[in-house]
Amino acid sequence: MPYKLLFVCLGNICRSPSAENIMNHLIAEAGLSDQIICDSAGTSNYHIGSPPDRRMTMAAAQQGITMTGSARQFVAADFENFDLILAMDKANYEDILAIDRTGKYRDKVRLMCDFCRSHSDREVPDPYYGGQSGFTYVIDLLMDACRGLLEEVKKV
Ligand code: 4NP
Repeated sequence: MPYKLLFVCLGNICRSPSAENIMNHLIAEAGLSDQIICDSAGTSNYHIGSPPDRRMTMAAAQQGITMTGSARQFVAADFENFDLILAMDKANYEDILAIDRTGKYRDKVRLMCDFCRSHSDREVPDPYYGGQSGFTYVIDLLMDACRGLLEEVKKV
């Protein structure tokens, strides 16, 4: 059975699709595409069905990452369907745990920045209302977190 990762942000058009596509890039490079599967979702219903934000797609392209996907909302069934759920910020983390009323899946939910090796950020900042540099920063930060995450998942 492949190990299944779910990346979660608010809209599922900026941060979590970036994490998903960066992680898939690293997984393919490592030759582990049969063993690790990635998806992403948003805690909100704001952008269901939308492709990734074009500003995010531009920033990703500069690092050789092609952005794919269409936004969906996080659902309770995701707790069973995924092995590890990565929240981009603390609000996402709390919103996910609020859906897990009994606390059964608490240990499956982690902050993405827990896996950073060279950045000290605790959260992936929401770039939506800022300039292009915010999107570039998100890609850099997620590259770091995804590298660390891949090393941890390889140990499982
Ligand atoms: P994301 O960014 O959570 O990284 O996809 C956002 C996208 C949309 C909104 C906020 C953040 N919004 O308020 O519509």
